[in-house]
Amino acid sequence: MGQMSEFINQMQVYEGAMYELSTKLEILDSEFQVRFSHNPIHHMERRLKSVDSILEKLQRRGLPVTINSIRDNLFDIAGIRVICNYRDDVYSVSNYLSTQSDIQVLQVKDYIKNPKQNGYRSLHVIYAVPVFLSSGAHYTPVEVQFRTIAMDYWASLEHALRYKADLPDTKYTEHAQTLLDCARSLQNVETQMQTIHRDINGAPQVVEAPHEHVSR
Ligand code: GTP
Ligand code: MG
Repeated sequence: MGQMSEFINQMQVYEGAMYELSTKLEILDSEFQVRFSHNPIHHMERRLKSVDSILEKLQRRGLPVTINSIRDNLFDIAGIRVICNYRDDVYSVSNYLSTQSDIQVLQVKDYIKNPKQNGYRSLHVIYAVPVFLSSGAHYTPVEVQFRTIAMDYWASLEHALRYKADLPDTKYTEHAQTLLDCARSLQNVETQMQTIHRDINGAPQVVEAPHEHVSR
């Protein structure tokens, strides 16, 4: 029972970290609306990893099934997906967040600059945000996936294909190839539309400091 209540407490901390980061993102979005008459965020999704997925991931990686092992090894217990209108928005929102003085950046994987082999694009950033408990500040990781509407549209279908187990191999390969073509087409459409949007709305509002660990 001790382990069980400790696990529940830990999940509540992850949930708190997720809410804190969502609020920061909402504040940035409304500030953009006021300053630039533009909402960078189309919508957000968030989730806590299920107990089943946590156990599956620990077992798959041969890691001990303990709370310390979860804390030390799993950085995607709390997850937020930020679906932006344009590629510029992905970088401006993520950069503004990264430079906030109470946030740490633990890891950045830029699959927009370097797409995966299958065509997957998104910017993955693991932030650590302080959750204040009676014992003090506990920096807690949250995985944020920033992507455009086009990237999200693509990733949803690719995800559906991947988990469609009862498809013949030839069909699967054919669809995977078509999806790669779709990823390239969507990237082109996005670039063209981004150009129009920049022309109408002005240059992107991207801060200077790139992703880096900021501690003040
Ligand atoms: P895990 O964290 O164990 O999943 O492995 P990893 O750290 O190598 O993965 P990464 O951080 O690159 O991606 C983690 C998450 O990004 C996944 O759970 C998906 O939500 C998303 N993702 C990554 N690659 C793909 C992809 O090829 N297709 C789709 N649809 N989603 C992806
Ligand atoms: Mg990961």
